[in-house]
Amino acid sequence: MKAVVYKKYGPPNVLEVTEMEKPKPRDNEMLIKIHAATVTSGDVRLRSSDFPPLFWLPARLIFGLFNPKKKILGHELAGTIEVIGKNVTKFKVGDSVFGTTTMLKTGSYAEYICLPQKWRNGVVALKPENLSFKEAAALPVGAMTAMFLLEKANLKNGQKVLVYGASGSVGSYALQLAKIQGAVVTGVCSGSNVEMVKSLGAEKAIDYKKEDYSQCNDKFDIVIDGVGKTTKTKAKKVLTANGAFVSVKMLTKEKTENLERIKELAEKGKLKPFIDQTFALNEIVHAHKYVDSGRKRGNVVIEILQQNGNDL
Ligand SMILES: NC(=O)c1ccc[n+]([C@@H]2O[C@H](COP(=O)([O-])OP(=O)(O)OC[C@H]3O[C@@H](n4cnc5c(N)ncnc54)[C@H](OP(=O)(O)O)[C@@H]3O)[C@@H](O)[C@H]2O)c1
Repeated sequence: MKAVVYKKYGPPNVLEVTEMEKPKPRDNEMLIKIHAATVTSGDVRLRSSDFPPLFWLPARLIFGLFNPKKKILGHELAGTIEVIGKNVTKFKVGDSVFGTTTMLKTGSYAEYICLPQKWRNGVVALKPENLSFKEAAALPVGAMTAMFLLEKANLKNGQKVLVYGASGSVGSYALQLAKIQGAVVTGVCSGSNVEMVKSLGAEKAIDYKKEDYSQCNDKFDIVIDGVGKTTKTKAKKVLTANGAFVSVKMLTKEKTENLERIKELAEKGKLKPFIDQTFALNEIVHAHKYVDSGRKRGNVVIEILQQNGNDL
């Protein structure tokens, strides 16, 4: 099978398209033919090993001290099940699924992957029927992170929410999920993304290049930092007395029930992934260069199985 590997940390050109043996599923695993994956901010951080000083050593101990342990990157995928191990009960051959590869030995920049039907750190569920594989692949990490953070903030109907970095993946899902729960949402983004953020449902957008949100006159019940570039100290200036600040810098947890809820919300047409650009697997270096820029809007998808027309 075709796969993208990286044998050392570094710039995007450490990624190489190569041929390798197709994996074989164990008894608790499913062999999935991957139709689409994504390039997340987490993927580019793992590739470059660009961790904050405090986390650098622990991260290197987990992911590989001198060279990466996990040679194939890719945290998200959507595809179809080709083979199931004898202990797999939740899924069957032919099912279309989407999910993550969190803390597995391998990732989704490949034509095939073996995923356990259930494991401690990652999740897999049936793909939303109305979404293409490319759209479904763009949901799990960003939408589950946003859902976890809104749960942590205890969002209630009618509350006022400010989403900082509303044009990123986590931010664009946080905005939509907050709206679904009846919040009134203000998004903070640059001027060029105001239209996008409003089209996703924000009542108001603040251009961070022109205005400091912490100086605005509004008060919010929740400030969610979707891009890791604001602080609690700043957020406190616009939070109500009991207001909550949550950030992508917090440890989050992937939950199967959340991915299944995301599937349902997508099928009801309430939650939609925003796809910025799509690249082919052999354009992976370009895709990483683009995500490295820090300017991606929503999600960047890697199309692995070329689709002819309708790819639902
Ligand atoms: N804790 C977790 O489980 C978890 C999970 C997923 C992601 N993350 C982390 O969350 C962060 C966001 O990831 P992501 O993929 O959602 O987004 P991303 O791709 O990193 O964000 C890019 C977006 O952020 C906007 N942006 C850049 N600088 C900004 C600033 N100073 N103020 C406001 N907006 C700014 C950019 O718009 P402009 O070009 O217009 O500025 C762009 O649209 C990453 O650090 C990632 O590692 C954490």
